[in-house]
Amino acid sequence: PLRVIIDTDPGLGAPGADIDDGLAIALALASPELIVEGLTIVNGNVDTTAGTANALALLERLGRTDVPVFVGAGAPLRRDMAPVHELFARVLPDAGVPTARPVTRPRPEHAAVWLADTVLAAPGEITVLAIGPMTNLALALALRPEMAGAVREFVIMAGAATTYAQNITPVGDFNAYVDPEALDVVLRSGAPVRMVGLDQTMRVRLTRAHAARMREVGSPFALWAADCTDAWISFLHAAFPSRPEHVDGCFLHDPLTVAAVLRPDLVRFEPAHVQVEMGSELCRGLVVADRGLSLTPPAGPPNAAVAVDTEVDAFVEFFLDRLLAA
Ligand code: BDR
Ligand code: CA
Repeated sequence: PLRVIIDTDPGLGAPGADIDDGLAIALALASPELIVEGLTIVNGNVDTTAGTANALALLERLGRTDVPVFVGAGAPLRRDMAPVHELFARVLPDAGVPTARPVTRPRPEHAAVWLADTVLAAPGEITVLAIGPMTNLALALALRPEMAGAVREFVIMAGAATTYAQNITPVGDFNAYVDPEALDVVLRSGAPVRMVGLDQTMRVRLTRAHAARMREVGSPFALWAADCTDAWISFLHAAFPSRPEHVDGCFLHDPLTVAAVLRPDLVRFEPAHVQVEMGSELCRGLVVADRGLSLTPPAGPPNAAVAVDTEVDAFVEFFLDRLLAA
């Protein structure tokens, strides 16, 4: 099996919270092709206190408290979180996002230190799946730059390759927008990078009909996942009234990123020279993936492979099969 570390900012604590990181973790844990070495928590959808609690509680729920959890960066490298919090304040109800109450504890080491040490202890073996802002990866690379030559691959959920990413801003996905400087460090590191962008992840959705299927399975995890899915769809519908995809659905951004590792036949990649905008307020977090399709030559050689197509139906079936067997 492939050894993976999942770097994440999980909102999944209770019905009503952002669920896709949690579902991605559950998918990885349900997959015999992977050994999940640990979860590293980064500030993002929620702060690291809530993210850590949610991760621990999810592992408890899945009976996988053998997987260690490490607390990581509490803020982006350079930019503050105020613009993100302002945006969230507009759409989140007063009560805020529910947070889980686990009984287990995180490990004492800092996530970035553990990440670097673990990758360096097994050159060429560890894949890092990064499904939140890239701050922990950047810190680990700063601590131990040689990690770039030792990691098997960084597989990251960020940006978009074939069109604009539009969720947090009209040109930015959340993960790139929150910490573009960290994403820049990853892209310039020289490590093998595969990027799954919003243009692909917004093609894969979970609907109320899928939640009903979960209920039919009836296991404690399936019932809980169904409640979380329904609640998240209701929230998104209220928060994004002009997005037709949210009338009955939520996106599976992070689970598709895990599937790109599990099932190479489901996501097609092409090489690109990828850069992220940091200087402009207007385009902060805009990921530019140059696949050589324009008249202007790329600014450099390929530094990543970017997802350009997805087997949508096959992925959703695969995801549900794995999740519901858990
Ligand atoms: C990314 O932002 C988060 O809200 C999702 O979990 C995903 O990782 C999409 O932009
Ligand atoms: Ca995420």
